[in-house]
Formats: sequence, C-alpha cells, structure tokens
Amino acid sequence: MLPWLCSCPEQGRPVPPAKLTEQLAQGKILYEQSCAQCHYDGAGNPVAPDLRGSSVLAEPPQALARIILDGRQGVSMKDGKKLNGIMPPQAYLRDEEIAAVVVYVREAFGDRRDALSPAAVAEIRAGLKD
Ligand code: HEC
Repeated sequence: MLPWLCSCPEQGRPVPPAKLTEQLAQGKILYEQSCAQCHYDGAGNPVAPDLRGSSVLAEPPQALARIILDGRQGVSMKDGKKLNGIMPPQAYLRDEEIAAVVVYVREAFGDRRDALSPAAVAEIRAGLKD
C-alpha cells in the first residue's frame, strides 16, 4: 500500500460545510501565493504540468499533500510527454495551510470536494522524515 494511504481516519466522514468553506477560501489565497507562479490558473505554463485534468486529483487527497510536502521531479506528464521538471518541496507551509490548498486545488481544478485535515498532513510529514 502506498505510504500516504495507510491511515486516513477522516476519509468518508461528512465534513461540516463551514469548515470546507473556510478551507476553500484560505486555500485560494495560498494557491495564488505559493503555486500560481508555476501552475498559473491550473494550466498553460510550458514548464509546469496542468493541474486541470491531472491524474493526481483523481487519487485520494493525501497524494497531493505528499507532492506539496516532498516536491516532485521527473514524474509529471505534459501534453502526453514526460515533462522532466522539478517542483521544489513546499514543506514550509503549515499543516493547516497544506490541508486548505489541497482542498482548494481539488475543487477548483478537479471538481472534487472532500476534506483533508491538518492532522492527516502532519502524519504524511512525519512519514517523510523516516
Ligand atoms: C517553482 C515552481 C512550482 C511551484 C511553486 C509549485 N509547483 Fe507543482 N510542479 C512544478 C513542476 C515543475 C512539476 C512537475 C515535476 C515533474 O516533472 O515531475 C509540478 C508538479 C505538480 C503536481 C503533479 C501534477 C501531475 O499531474 O503530475 C501537482 C499536483 C502540483 N505540482 C501541485 C502544486 C501545488 C498545489 C503547489 C502549491 C502548494 C505547487 N505545485 C507549487 C512546479 C511548481
């Protein structure tokens, strides 16, 4: 099993709508500050993959949190070809911030609305230190 999928206590639980609304609003601001310089409005930068239509957004939210914490290199595809780019880790973001940006990106670019708790992000962060 993939390491970031092992324990996901909040998955499947209904999310209070107020909490989701708060994460979406915070996540939008964080996206503009920390992601948009490379990922633009979800598509269109020749040196960063499109988030709209990204297969990562079809995976559980933990997959995206892990990319933010750990960065990504030599994996992503763009227009059917390997991009061979480098995304530096954005681990300076706090657990709450990563949770919020994950919720926002999945909704804005993947039409998926589900929660990710800061505790789940902390768990992935701890797992990466092993
Ligand atoms: C400095 C530029 C840069 C920043 C900042 C950045 N990224 Fe990336 N991102 C990239 C590059 C380049 C790749 C492709 C890496 C590769 O080729 O494997 C990537 C890959 C990704 C992928 C994988 C997409 C796919 O389909 O393979 C996701 C998801 C992603 N980034 C989300 C984010 C989010 C969310 C943020 C903000 C928290 C962010 N990125 C910040 C440059 C950046």
